Amino acid sequence: METIISPSILSADFANLEADIKRVEPYVPWLHIDVMDGHFVPNISIGVPVVKSIRKITNLFLDTHLMIENPIKYVDAFVDAGSDLITFHFEATLDKTIETIEKIKSRGVKVGLSIKPKTQVEEIKEYISLVDMILVMTVEPGFGGQKFMEDCAKKIEQIKKINNKVLVQVDGGINDKTAIICKNFGVDSLVAGNYIYSAQDIKKAIESIK
Ligand code: DX5
Ligand code: ZN
Repeated sequence: METIISPSILSADFANLEADIKRVEPYVPWLHIDVMDGHFVPNISIGVPVVKSIRKITNLFLDTHLMIENPIKYVDAFVDAGSDLITFHFEATLDKTIETIEKIKSRGVKVGLSIKPKTQVEEIKEYISLVDMILVMTVEPGFGGQKFMEDCAKKIEQIKKINNKVLVQVDGGINDKTAIICKNFGVDSLVAGNYIYSAQDIKKAIESIK
């Protein structure tokens, strides 16, 4: 299967967001939207109204990465805004994980579960077969342009061993070289922000991680 590339608009120019989405649109199926609340992560990015505006200008599959506390509270708003996939953090829900998965599924969109670098696959074992995708973070969530943590990449293989049907996405520090490491472990989807949006030739950058 060809790797699903999901460009992260966190590295786009927010004053020219439509133009920056149009630059990647011909070459990718997904668009990665990073939502940060200043509590779960030490940064604030964008929220529901921006997703709603993006939905009006593109048919790309909207891959929404919630780095927020109490994500279940915002599921309806993001689905109504047009998200196609909602990924939330295991560390943000813990005892509400099942409830959050079910809430997202009940709204008819895809569901993803994400783990930070220090969280082990063992901790989320029971949820892997209940979701469409697991997002393995290879940087501490919060900022674009950080260095890829190679140790985390082996989690891809660990997840696939438990369930080879679940999609595995990797987010953080992806470039043409780190993409190969992930591919060798069996990754299905790669998020890239800085590498794509800082490239002179966007098409070439995307092709190089595919
Ligand atoms: C980080 C975000 C990422 C980020 C990736 O918290 O979840 O999606 O935009 O950026 P790069 O590709 O620059 O590491
Ligand atoms: Zn992300």
